[in-house]
Amino acid sequence: MTLYDKLERKLSERAQAGLLKRERVIVSRQGTEIRIEGRAEPVVNFCANNYLGLANHPRVVAAARAALDGAGYGLSSVRFICGTQSVHKRLEERLSAFLGTEDTILYTSCFDANGGLFESLLGPEDALVSARLNHASIIDGVRLARCRRFTYVESDPADLERALVEAGDKADTLVVTDGVFSMEGTLAPLDRIAPVAAARGALLVVDDSHATGFVGEHGRGTGEYFGVKPDVVTSTLGKALGGACGGFVGGKKVLVDWLRNSSRPYLFSNSLAPSLAAGALAALDIVESGEGVQLRARLGENTRRFRTAMRQSGFEVRDGVHPIVPVMLGDALLAARMADRLLELGVYVIGFSYPVVPKDQARIRVQLSAAHTPEQIDRAVEAFGIAAGEITSDRSRTSP
Ligand SMILES: Cc1ncc(COP(=O)(O)O)c(C=O)c1O
Repeated sequence: MTLYDKLERKLSERAQAGLLKRERVIVSRQGTEIRIEGRAEPVVNFCANNYLGLANHPRVVAAARAALDGAGYGLSSVRFICGTQSVHKRLEERLSAFLGTEDTILYTSCFDANGGLFESLLGPEDALVSARLNHASIIDGVRLARCRRFTYVESDPADLERALVEAGDKADTLVVTDGVFSMEGTLAPLDRIAPVAAARGALLVVDDSHATGFVGEHGRGTGEYFGVKPDVVTSTLGKALGGACGGFVGGKKVLVDWLRNSSRPYLFSNSLAPSLAAGALAALDIVESGEGVQLRARLGENTRRFRTAMRQSGFEVRDGVHPIVPVMLGDALLAARMADRLLELGVYVIGFSYPVVPKDQARIRVQLSAAHTPEQIDRAVEAFGIAAGEITSDRSRTSP
């Protein structure tokens, strides 16, 4: 059997289990109401990370366009050869001021930021203690590091303590956690984790991709929410901060200087396009303005509206305050059927099942945005009720 035959077989197994990923093609701009190929009517989008609705904000688009005209399309270089323009430096300074870090280093994605962090900081004597539910980019970054590795249960400071004791106190140790666990919509309890890490002399690294711009009073992330200052923050420009591309690491100047000299995705990959850096700067202007305050308030209201109405309609939603709301269904095929039916009803959501989430914990992940209207949210709740009612009565008709 050739490799191609094996791939064919694996793909068809996935298809039979309802686990094959298909891309739906959007033929409009990103937003809360989008058009998708093969469907005449628009659908309401509940699966973008467009938390503040900035993906097509006129000021973000205008800033990116002006940078295209002024700074050009691309740099054809990595940062340290001839790929650094003033807009990159301005964005790094701005992110440092926003997050209260000494310095910040940009990458073309947060996946790269996480991929280039641990390997360059830690050696065989050192230790990494990683939260069990961390994002794939952290898991891969941890794999690349040539150090001792440990995991802990993300919500349990006692388990973190256990892992740190196992790691020993001679080595340099990093504790790394997502600020928000993206399949659960839950926040890492930084207020309980940070003291445990500090007491053992470990540095705390937080990936705030699902928090930067909107969690915490000023949108500075989970650190602000819990009143904790992580030693290192990684995050993305690809979600709330305009939703294009880009990632970064913020921390002490000496650490960032070292990353500029040793982090492989930074040294060996192209520089972020200037238009994207300029768009992110405009997104930060909005985040830090009165409009940002309003957008965060609206996002909070939308999240509460959806969570409350879904519970009242009898759905199981994970507890929490975050705009990621997993609607728990259990069965993978049920989640897939439900998502398909919701799309027919004009609500675009995605079902997640094993191996992305544990077996028998399939779910539909709904993501709210400040740009959703109350009517769109109510329509989604109603559509969930209709789809669940139809699928349940179908099942009872077909069961013996
Ligand atoms: C927690 C977390 N970290 C990192 C990433 C990767 O971010 P980027 O799209 O910038 O590579 C994601 C994206 O899904 C994420 O959820």
